[in-house]
Amino acid sequence: MKRDNLCILVIGQGGREHALAWKLKASPRVSKVYAAPGNPGMEKLAECVPIRVDDIRSLAHFALEKGVDLAVIGPEAPLALGISDELIRLGIPAFGPTKAAASIETSKVWAKCFMTRHNIPTADYSVFGDADSAKCYIRAHGCPVVVKADGLAAGKGVVVAHTPEEAEHAVDTISNLAAGSEIVVEDCLFGREASYLVITDGMSALPLISAKDHKRAGDGDKGPNTGGMGAIVPAPAFDTSLEAQILEDIIMPTIRGLSDEGHRYVGVLYAGLMLTSQGPMALEFNARFGDPETQAILPMMESDLVDALEAAVEGTCSSMKLKWRDGACVCVVAASQGYPEKPQLGREISIDEEQAEKDDVLIFHAGTRRDGEKLVTSGGRVLNVVGVGDSVEDAASRAYRGLSHVNFEGMWFRCDIGRPGA
Ligand code: AMP
Ligand code: GLY
Repeated sequence: MKRDNLCILVIGQGGREHALAWKLKASPRVSKVYAAPGNPGMEKLAECVPIRVDDIRSLAHFALEKGVDLAVIGPEAPLALGISDELIRLGIPAFGPTKAAASIETSKVWAKCFMTRHNIPTADYSVFGDADSAKCYIRAHGCPVVVKADGLAAGKGVVVAHTPEEAEHAVDTISNLAAGSEIVVEDCLFGREASYLVITDGMSALPLISAKDHKRAGDGDKGPNTGGMGAIVPAPAFDTSLEAQILEDIIMPTIRGLSDEGHRYVGVLYAGLMLTSQGPMALEFNARFGDPETQAILPMMESDLVDALEAAVEGTCSSMKLKWRDGACVCVVAASQGYPEKPQLGREISIDEEQAEKDDVLIFHAGTRRDGEKLVTSGGRVLNVVGVGDSVEDAASRAYRGLSHVNFEGMWFRCDIGRPGA
């Protein structure tokens, strides 16, 4: 029998964690949500506790002291530090992989070698321990190539280089990053990109509805890479046969491969894909929910999220199926002036909550903080404005109407998310 009155801890402070807390709080089985450290948007849903996401000992002890029934880990940083191992050691159910299993995200070298070992379709690649040998290889190989730092680099660790000059510059930049002790140089793939996320108990997968993230800063997918400027759900041109192929060729071999190598992977497995003319290929894996994809996925979920997360922890995913509403969801990110290079922080934010509610728009906070009575910007991506509708166009017009209810000096956003041709 399912237990009620659950107490959940959400770890993180971005738009993804606000969306997770919102969906978890909507469950009739959940009576209490803590967020560590959370953000001002989460205050109505959750008790925010000032523990940083990298303070894994304090997080685990807090969960123990409060008798938390399930800890849900949002970002990659605490996974890389071993938060799930620490929680499991204390007997607290954790939704998120162990440090070793999270290597699939935290080390590109590990992930590429893993994909080779398990025949998972991905770009051909070579690994270099120093800048000179990487440059020598690039000269012989020719461009375009993709240069990647090995470790976590907050979105700065990947460069798609079209000329040898760009590629050599990328090698120099990446070898200077903390994450750049080893450098991956891989073939450039062409096609449409899509994100495919599943919840897994390490044996079976519960697929989430497909999503498309818009990573570039400018309209028409131009300009520098960002953490993500918006998302559309479902991803355009995704059908059941493509989903079946992704599950068969990429997701299930990954889950089985991890298990065969002794890792029971519990959490979200997020495949960043290129849909090429030769079929879907894995660009990368993430060991967590995507941001901003989650802000557009969860409003489409009719099932109880807590049931799915619990199934992953308890190893019962094979007996569950998730239900999704018809239609579409669009999330547009309102960003700070200067993002992604040098975001201007501390700008006062105004939100017309009443109008947003009347227009049925969801607003998830990301880079916001309280400064006395005021709400001010504290990050590059500040707010996620989300519309649900009967079609992508309908959802997009709701999200863009929602953007007229929020404001801060220097606010900007992409104007083409979910719009024709995007
Ligand atoms: P990653 O962090 O590995 O997903 O890379 C970030 C972005 O770089 C991806 O979303 C793609 O747009 C691009 N990218 C990464 N690897 C490749 C590749 N092999 N071919 C083309 N584009 C790539
Ligand atoms: N939206 C990309 C990510 O979450 O990594």
